[in-house]
Amino acid sequence: MKAVDIIIHKRDKETLSKDEIEFFVKGFTSGDIPDYQASSWAMAVLLNGMSDRETTDLTLAMAHSGEILDLSGVVKISLDKHSTGGVGDKTSLIVAPLVAACGLPFGKMSGRGLGFSGGTLDKLESIPGFRVDLSSAEFISQLRDIGIVLSGQSGNLAPADGKFYALRDVTGTVPSIPLIASSIMSKKIASGAQAMVLDVKVGNGAFMQTLEEARKLSRLMVSIANLSGRKAVCLLSDMNQPLGNAVGNALEVIEAIDVLHGGGPNDLVEHCLATTAYLVMLGKKRKNLAEARQLVEDVLRNGKAWEMFRKLVIAQGGDVATIDDPDLLPKANFNVTINSTANGYVKMVHARRIGEASVDLGAGRTQKGDPIDHAVGIVVHQKVGNYVLEGEPLFSIHSNSEARLEDGIKSVNKAFILSKDVCDPLPLFYEIVE
Ligand code: URA
Repeated sequence: MKAVDIIIHKRDKETLSKDEIEFFVKGFTSGDIPDYQASSWAMAVLLNGMSDRETTDLTLAMAHSGEILDLSGVVKISLDKHSTGGVGDKTSLIVAPLVAACGLPFGKMSGRGLGFSGGTLDKLESIPGFRVDLSSAEFISQLRDIGIVLSGQSGNLAPADGKFYALRDVTGTVPSIPLIASSIMSKKIASGAQAMVLDVKVGNGAFMQTLEEARKLSRLMVSIANLSGRKAVCLLSDMNQPLGNAVGNALEVIEAIDVLHGGGPNDLVEHCLATTAYLVMLGKKRKNLAEARQLVEDVLRNGKAWEMFRKLVIAQGGDVATIDDPDLLPKANFNVTINSTANGYVKMVHARRIGEASVDLGAGRTQKGDPIDHAVGIVVHQKVGNYVLEGEPLFSIHSNSEARLEDGIKSVNKAFILSKDVCDPLPLFYEIVE
């Protein structure tokens, strides 16, 4: 078999065999197939697509390109959650302790932010001392001991995806539904997930800009899960405005802490309760969604979820004093609130622009490995559909530089559109694909 023939087959819109896909993934992972052939192949897939069977073969080949975590001795059903990435999405910080507090051990491997979308690991590292680089052995023993782990992907899980993703990022081949589906699902399978909730974001602050694309991606991921003997539920959720109010690492940790204490913005609370209820049902802790939801609300109200979050922070070396008193978390030098200059209905709080403005303040990176400033970011004080009066707050900017503060105010101002006409609030979820 030759790599060039496999590229030609895909270029000519043929369906690749399982053997061809495995040969290509193995060759690329080992370095026998060079980057230029892999990028040409990825472009052929982006342009000509793949069948569900090809995508499942690709997913399994990438999942088996490294170690597969076996959690069967630690948990009855290994649960996972994944978001396709968005602005202000701090749900993992809340959902993980909620699930664990329901009596279902929950260990999750998360990623860093790239571009305008944030990453759980960067948020967690706002907590001084918090370690995200656990080995597989540490991951398993912490899951066994305290029932909760949030860490980075350990060394040798789905290395083919790591290599492909880095290449796709710089060759214009990220937005391909089969490539995204196989990338996400290969990591989930390699990290031992048996049942998962996939939060597929739709809107200007997400990879999937339309509901149709999000549906396609969701159906494909559910089909891959089923074909590989796993269960997945996809929640298609809105990402046209930030989720919750805070965007930026420490600011998002503070908001997550608020939620775990029973406060926080309604959209974020509802999103987390709904996601966790599905996980509780997949984990067979309750028979139906209504009972699962009741349990989740109970562990939020009675403080068990907060206690789980504290255990997590202590176990991973974080300074617990900073979450007990979030005033001790990193804080920016400038915190300026901008008020509305007119009355009107909020028509838009453009998620992508806010995400980009937050990166420009230093909260995210434009290149892998860039340092980030955990203290900076944006807090939006309004949601689409609200009626605002002149003089009421629209947003606050937290910055460590005066120049960036000025630029941030300009950019975020452009993200807000007010209208004289009534505007409907945005839905939180569009639909569920099971
Ligand atoms: N997230 C992933 O893990 N992979 C993709 O290809 C896109 C989003």
